[in-house]
Amino acid sequence: MEGAHFLLVYALLALASSIAFASDPGPLQDFCAATNDPSTGVLLNGRLCKDPKLTTVNDFTFSGLNIRADTSNQFGFNITFAIIDEFPGVNTLGISTARIDFAANGGLNPLHLHPRASEALVCMEGTLYAGFVTALPEYRLFAKILRPGDAFVFPQGLIHFQLNVGKTDAVAFASFNSQNPGVIRVAESTFGANPPIASKVLAKSFQLDRDTVHQLQNKFGGNQDIDLEMIVANLFDEL
Ligand SMILES: *[C@@H]1O[C@H](CO)[C@@H](O)[C@H](O)[C@H]1NC(C)=O
Repeated sequence: MEGAHFLLVYALLALASSIAFASDPGPLQDFCAATNDPSTGVLLNGRLCKDPKLTTVNDFTFSGLNIRADTSNQFGFNITFAIIDEFPGVNTLGISTARIDFAANGGLNPLHLHPRASEALVCMEGTLYAGFVTALPEYRLFAKILRPGDAFVFPQGLIHFQLNVGKTDAVAFASFNSQNPGVIRVAESTFGANPPIASKVLAKSFQLDRDTVHQLQNKFGGNQDIDLEMIVANLFDEL
């Protein structure tokens, strides 16, 4: 009987604690356009809010998402974010948006994740191969070819990508359930960390030799490796 009671309480507690907040906290007032000028700021929630009397419709408007951005970079893609930094009206609302342009024949939004948001992506032009990978232990890939009008969701924090597999430029629009979704690109955050992660860590993590790691570090960060052995040796000398 005691045991059954304990189990019941345990089950109820487990249920209660599974109710987690999956997006930014809800707004505490109708609106709160962001300002970087503390002298015009009031009512703190998220970013500092601009004095409502000074807030205009322009704070709630972002223009230029119709403009194709330059994709002549190594990945052949470009992302135009309308998030808190560029779009003060989203402050405290838990939403933001972006346009993604892909060059014809292989433009890639490389492997990345958003630490603070799930993403809904709508393919507007072209043909995209998009997917995400689940967490340990399955690392299951969910991937699909998207045509104009197709939407795809990428769950918060999971690694995902979009590749233009068509012969024409492609464009997609993304929405996030955060005013500041954050972006972590897998290659840049590991091989381009600043200061660099010691190549010993990278070589063993990715099961590569150190020359390959140095090549990747040069490509993604331009950072010199740090001499971990020397740092450790000096540490023992000091002891
Ligand atoms: C993205 O496009 C903008 C506008 O065309 C351009 O100024 C910027 O340099 C581009 N960024 C990259 C990484 O290509």
